This record gives sequence, C-alpha cells and structure tokens, in this order.
Amino acid sequence: MRSHYCSDVAGVALGDQITACGWVHRRRDHGGVIFIDLRDRSGLLQLVFDPDYADIFAIAESLRPEFVLKATGKVRERPEGTINPKLPTGRIEVLVTELELLNRADTPPLQIDETDHVGEEARLRYRYIELRKPRMQQHLMLRAEVTRSLRRYLDEAGFLDIETPILTKATPEGARDYLVPSRTHPGSFFALPQSPQLFKQLLMMSGLDRYYQIARCFRDEDLRADRQPEFTQLDIEFSFSDESEIMAVNEAMMRQLFADVLDVQLPDPFPRMTYAEAMRRFGSDKPDLRIDLELVDVADLVADAEFKVFSGPANDPGGRVAMLPVPGGSSLTRKQIDDYTDFVGRYGAKGLAYIKVNDPAQGREGLASPILKFLSDAAVDGILQRSAAKAGDLIFFGADRASVVNDALGALRVRLGQDLGRIEGDWAPLWVIDWPMFEWDDKEKRWDALHHPFTAPSVDDPAALVSHPGEALSRAYDLVLNGTELGGGSVRIHRPDMQTAAFQVLGIGAEEAEEKFGFLLEALRYGAPPHGGIAFGVDRLVMLMAGASSIREVIAFPKTQTATDLLTGAPGLADNRQLKELGIRLRQTEKPSE
Ligand code: AMO
Ligand code: AMP
Repeated sequence: MRSHYCSDVAGVALGDQITACGWVHRRRDHGGVIFIDLRDRSGLLQLVFDPDYADIFAIAESLRPEFVLKATGKVRERPEGTINPKLPTGRIEVLVTELELLNRADTPPLQIDETDHVGEEARLRYRYIELRKPRMQQHLMLRAEVTRSLRRYLDEAGFLDIETPILTKATPEGARDYLVPSRTHPGSFFALPQSPQLFKQLLMMSGLDRYYQIARCFRDEDLRADRQPEFTQLDIEFSFSDESEIMAVNEAMMRQLFADVLDVQLPDPFPRMTYAEAMRRFGSDKPDLRIDLELVDVADLVADAEFKVFSGPANDPGGRVAMLPVPGGSSLTRKQIDDYTDFVGRYGAKGLAYIKVNDPAQGREGLASPILKFLSDAAVDGILQRSAAKAGDLIFFGADRASVVNDALGALRVRLGQDLGRIEGDWAPLWVIDWPMFEWDDKEKRWDALHHPFTAPSVDDPAALVSHPGEALSRAYDLVLNGTELGGGSVRIHRPDMQTAAFQVLGIGAEEAEEKFGFLLEALRYGAPPHGGIAFGVDRLVMLMAGASSIREVIAFPKTQTATDLLTGAPGLADNRQLKELGIRLRQTEKPSE
C-alpha cells in the first residue's frame, strides 16, 4: 500500500510523489488549511490538505485522532518559520492529492502523546493502544535489535538454536511451578519450565556441543519491577569448556551487543569480584559499581562497647557491624535521616545509628551523634581512621545478623547513591564469582542451592561436599550490570556420584531424586561431557539498555503484579465440561451465589 514509512519521506527529493499509511496523530486547522500529523512506527509526517482539493478536504475535516489513512501526495519544503528541527521530517510536508480513509476509530481511552497520565491499569487494559506510543515502539524495536545481534554473534560462534519443551516436568529454579493438567492422564500434570536447564544439559550429553535458545520461562513467584511470571532468557550451554572460556565468550557477546546497538564500548575484560568481597564491600551479591560508597566492618572496634546494639552482633559469629561513610552527608537533615531509618526498616534493620563528622581533627568533640556516649575513645578513633572521614561527612551504622546488615546497608548505599547524585558513568558490568554452593535456611532447617542443584562444586570429592556443605564454593558466576542481575550460570556436575551428593545435601533422598531427576542421573551414566553455561534475562537486558524502570516497559503484553493479564482477562474460569475432561473437581471455597 505504501511507498514509504513516514520518517523515510525525509530522504525523498522535493517534488516527488509518495504514499504513506498510518494513524492520525494530531489535526490542526489553520486559516482554511488542515494539517495532519500522520504516525506510523517510524515517526511522524506532516500532511497538508488544501481546500482546492474539495473532496479530500471534506474527508480531512472529518478526521479524528487514530483514524487510519492512506495518503498520496507531493513532497514539498515547509515554509520558513514552520520548520520543526526536532523531527526527522521537520523540514518537509506532503500536499495530499489522494486520500483513502481506511478505518475510523472511537475516541481512544489513552492519548498517544507522552503527556498522557492515565494509570497503569488502563494502559495494560488497552495495551494495543499503549503500544502505539513512540516510546513503547522504540522499546520493542530495540528488543528486536538486541535479539538479532545476540543471535548473530552466537550463530557465528557455532552455537545451534534448539527448542526445548514447554510442556514438561518441573525444572527447579527456586520458584513455584505453573502446572498444566493432562487430559490423557487424569490426575497428572505437566509443569511449565522455570528454565530449559535440564534439557540443555541433556543436549550436551547428546553431543550437540554448543546450544542456545531464546527461551520463554515460567515462574510462579512474587512479582516486582524486574520479575514477570513468564519471561525470556537467552539460554546458552557449551561442552568441553570451563568457567574462564564461558565467561570470555559471553562477555565478548555483550561487548558486541552494546557496540552494535548502543554504540557503547564496554570494558575488556569485565571486572570480576568474589561473592565474599561483594557482600563485604557492598552488602549485595549484585553491586552497582557506579556508586562509590562502601561498607566497612567495625565489629572489632565495638566488641567491648557498652552499647548492646553493637556489641551483641559484634560478638556473634552470624552477626555483622558495619559502617557506611557518606562524603558530604552531614548536610542531611534530621527528617532525611528519619526517612532513611524507615527505609532500612523495610529490610529488617531495627535502627540506623549515625555520626555526623563536623571536624575530625577535634576527635570526639568534633562529632555529633546519639550513640557517641556509648563508644570508647579508642572506638571513636578507630571509626574515624578507618572511614577516613572528613569534615562534612556522615557515617551510618548497621548492627544485626549479617544478612540484615547486608540487605539494609546494601540497599541504603544504592538509595544514597541515587539521592546524592553519586552515580558515576553509564555502564558497570561485573562478574560475581566464587559463590557458596549452599545456603542454610534457618526457618526450614535445610540447605538450599544458591544457584541450582546441578551446579558443580569447586571440590572434587562428593564425600567432602556432603560432610562440609557450608564450606563448599560453587563454580557459578553471575553477570551484574549497574546493580541488576543480568544473568547467571555455572559449570555443571557431570558425574552421577557428585550429582547424588548434591541432592543428598539438599535433602533430596534417593527415591525422590529418582522420581524427579531419574532421567538426568541416568543420562549422566551414559557418557556426559564436562559442560557449563549461562542464561541472561532478555527482558532485564533490554530494560537497562532502554533506560526503562520496569521490564513491563519492554514486554509487549506483560502481566500485572498479581500475575493477571488485564487485556485478555487471563487467568479465566474453565467450564465444567473442560474440568470434567481433565478429571478436575473444584473445591468449593464459598457458597455459590445461586
Ligand atoms: P537464573 O534463575 O539465575 O538461572 O535465571 C537467569 C536470568 O533470568 C532472569 N530472570 C528473570 N527475569 C524476569 N522475570 C523473572 N521472574 C526472572 N527470573 C530470572 C534474570 C536471571 O539472571 N538455568 C539457570 C541458568 C544457567 O545455570 O545456565 C537459570 O535459569 O536475569
Ligand atoms: P536506641 O538506643 O534504640 O535509641 O538506639 C540508638 C541509636 O542506634 C539510634 O540512632 C538507632 O537508630 C540506632 N540503632 C538501633 N538499633 C540499631 C541497629 N540494629 N543497627 C544500627 N543502628 C541501630
């Protein structure tokens, strides 16, 4: 139908005839002439309707926002004074000589221009209109560019794009499964994959050697800005490789992606940091290295303090006492400090002690703090020295179980970085390595896998893994970008005895292991090569590249916080006949209304 997309008309010679198709973005009537901004996915094009063409002019007068048009006409220069330098087509317009009204539109519930302030509920309900917004279209076009670049890199590096099943058995990645009832086996259920993890390992055992897939994953978990119940991974697995090769190939892929799509040069190589160092310095396993604030341990300085809030955790092996020095922070008001105290409260912190440093040269006299009276001179001196605090700084403190201090001060660090404008540079990728293999769940009294149960430990001996699970490090690595966990992977266990040992630590006995993962244990006995891989969150990657604040912004049809689709109304009820076929009877939780 069209000869050109709207924006491409900018490159057409003056006087040439073009045909463009699109939506009426805006109509302006000016002294007998009508201007229409025609919109398609490329941008806007100004159409001009002259009363000399009476038939067309009459149609133009009836046009409303979002009517669908096909317009033909001659490209001409805009008169001086009407040029819009912000638009690619801002110097030209098209005098329309033929016009076809392809469709009319009701008054849309959302406005397409960016000043629209309709709530998110309406924007999700009318997602097909929301997606007409230039910003949303740019996000989806960026997404397509990202996957194109990633595919190209992996294709050229000899990776095979292989699909794995969606109707399958549970693949544990730490979330709840979405279940699908089987009609042919009443009472039995498929699980939707939380990731293709087990299948990609099986593909390695089949000798396919290098695999990738842009794979949909399903996890029934609590949703946040960077989590959706179904999301997309770039999933990768290699045989006969180790962590250094896997990290090298993947960071080269990321460098090419950022150069291709954003014209950004990422560092070569990406920095690496152990999990232990990340937790110690940043209180987080995904530190944002653009922020220059750091946690500093002070337990040794306050172990004898009469202040129980500090000395308690300082003498507890599971506790931590740390400070977060903030340059220039003494200008924070009492109200701001109270707000930060509430903020860390959300992470379980019971308070947020602080010292304002007015003049460190005067020692105790140069400080202001509600906790000063509880600290010895030696402690105060030690704190000042270790923090290298200068006049005008402020030092925050956290004291609690280590996990609470890390969560609270780690989050406070990021919040302060944003609030105080201490974010330096645009892109800070980081590999976090040397993860603990297991984490003790004190509530459930059991070990959990920090990555997943198929991750290889750095020890070679299954007996050592079982006897000292808390000491084992894993061969896992996460790629962090600007404080977001972009991807994670590991070298896998490829020996059945080690896999059985890992299951044993996780409390998965022989019978359960056989029932859930028998096929994997069996495959490991028929010649499994050493292998490993990684998966990246494509939604998160595109979110960061687009500068968006939520992955909902870069997914065409996302779900709400409560995992519903407001557009289609999913999830919906199943009728009785369907349920009967599936052998399902619903439990009556409340009396039917009739
Ligand atoms: P993991 O569980 O770390 O690893 O997932 C890999 C990446 O997927 C993204 N991600 C999500 N994105 C949006 N919504 C979610 N609910 C969500 N959950 C995860 C994150 C994360 O880093 N099989 C392993 C990978 C491997 O070992 O190769 C896995 O799935 O960006
Ligand atoms: P309190 O003695 O409870 O009034 O606390 C004195 C100061 O210590 C206040 O500034 C509290 O915010 C702070 N505080 C209390 N508990 C903690 C904690 N667990 N970690 C850090 N600071 C705390």
